[in-house]
Amino acid sequence: MTSPIDATTTSAWQDLSAHESTLTADLRGWFAADPQRAQRLTFRLADLHVDLSKNLVTDETLALLVRLAEETGVADRLQAMLRGEHINVTEDRAVLHTALRRPAGATPPLVVDGQDVDADVQAELAKVYAFADKVRSGQWTGVTGAPVKTVVNIGIGGSDLGPVMVYEALKPYVQEGLEVRFVSNIDPSDLAEKVKGLDPTTTLFIVASKTFGTLETLTNARLARQWLWDQLAAAGHPADTDEARTAAVAQHFVAVSTALDKVAAFGIDPANAFGFWDWVGGRYSVDSAIGTSVAIAIGPEAFGELLAGFHAVDEHVATTPLASNVPVLMGLLNVWYVNFLGAHTHAVLPYAQYLHRFPAYLQQLTMESNGKSVRWDGTPVTTATGEVFWGEPGTNGQHAFYQLIHQGTRLIPADFIAVANPAHPLQDGDADVHGLFLANFFAQTKALAFGKTADEVRAEGTDEAIVPARVFSGNRPTTSILASALTPSVLGQLIALYEHITFVQGVVWGIDSFDQWGVELGKKLALEIAPAVEGDAAALDAQDPSTKSLISTYLALRD
Ligand code: F6P
Repeated sequence: MTSPIDATTTSAWQDLSAHESTLTADLRGWFAADPQRAQRLTFRLADLHVDLSKNLVTDETLALLVRLAEETGVADRLQAMLRGEHINVTEDRAVLHTALRRPAGATPPLVVDGQDVDADVQAELAKVYAFADKVRSGQWTGVTGAPVKTVVNIGIGGSDLGPVMVYEALKPYVQEGLEVRFVSNIDPSDLAEKVKGLDPTTTLFIVASKTFGTLETLTNARLARQWLWDQLAAAGHPADTDEARTAAVAQHFVAVSTALDKVAAFGIDPANAFGFWDWVGGRYSVDSAIGTSVAIAIGPEAFGELLAGFHAVDEHVATTPLASNVPVLMGLLNVWYVNFLGAHTHAVLPYAQYLHRFPAYLQQLTMESNGKSVRWDGTPVTTATGEVFWGEPGTNGQHAFYQLIHQGTRLIPADFIAVANPAHPLQDGDADVHGLFLANFFAQTKALAFGKTADEVRAEGTDEAIVPARVFSGNRPTTSILASALTPSVLGQLIALYEHITFVQGVVWGIDSFDQWGVELGKKLALEIAPAVEGDAAALDAQDPSTKSLISTYLALRD
């Protein structure tokens, strides 16, 4: 195992600290003094136009950050990841989500641990596509011979957040007459609401679980199976014999997992299961068979375009020098904000309603990846890691939390994302509503960068007493990302961009961004506590006083 390089001991880190102590953020001054700033700090990443110029950096800052990437071995580790080395050290696994989107026939073929990864990926993709085509064409039917109208994806974490985000983002590409619903929470209300109004004869469940051992997903899958049997019976198609039940599951349930033995144990025919591999992390899996629900909804062609979008960014990150490598620069900017300017959070603000689940998706991607306190060799981290990612689509957020971003005491770097051509170019009289929408994007990034001085406020005739309240400091950093339209390819590019940003930050911090031990304890305790919740006195007694009191209160409140 290569030991992580402690970023804080590098000369770049020392120089960044010294640089930070003498740097006064002055976006107004920097733009005024340098007419080329916007152009110089704007980059092309496949179809994305990425403007970094409103960040709190000078050329010197960026040069030092790039040196930090060099001194912490970002490029080497990236190549190690792409080659399939076991950089997921604590699980001793390769990290190869980038292999999921390599084009068919890529040369030389990627062989890892003796496995022809390219061949395996293409074979599984072909299975997913063939199945998607069957469902879309109506060739795949339920027990009564009716075609599928609704797909219900049952999964959680990476087996939910990716598919639901992509489905929502690409709604204009969804085949008419098909709908996908997503059940994730073990709160029974989730399943109950999602199956409401569904016809069992036209419903297909996809149980998506990498491990096929996740409590929430397996519980919901059992509930869904019971719902199917009950509803079929209610509709006059009794599933009261083993044979009928098995037939119903065979036609109405498929699975996606790396654990095909467990799929079979649940009663789903492994012939109706799509696999992937332990080298695909859950939060990096939407472009694997985990995206089957999406492939059905938008079709193989559009799904292929999504994968091509991912791949275009993979190519960029793998071949572009660090100083103009967009995911590297954006990862380094995040390091700058977290470690040198004290930012605790990072907002992602899509000005595209279809991207409304993107911030939630990024929360798992970034926070499950980089929310760590030890490095990949088990030693403590030497600096802050893992900022909190959050956000909502604009302009909704403007009327909720932007006040704090503009005038609060916290530094909140924010990424603004928009597309030029909306799926619905509606007019309000003579006004192009999408243009009006984007005017807000441009206004917000401008206001955050340049603010409003007391003199400017006074010049508007403002009463002196309220001038301070109306001053905007400016120097609130933003990155602006624009694309022509929210196509499958552009969406793939956006996802891959953030995957690689997350990777870069992880390398600088020396952490394994691909394990997630932090979610284990709660899962284990929930299983231990379950008997107490069911009324087992000894189990209740074994709890700490607060937990015992909470469970007792719950038991008393329960009808
Ligand atoms: O508990 C966290 C987690 O392991 C995620 O990393 C993963 O995406 C999610 O649970 C779901 O896991 P699975 O796909 O195995 O059901």
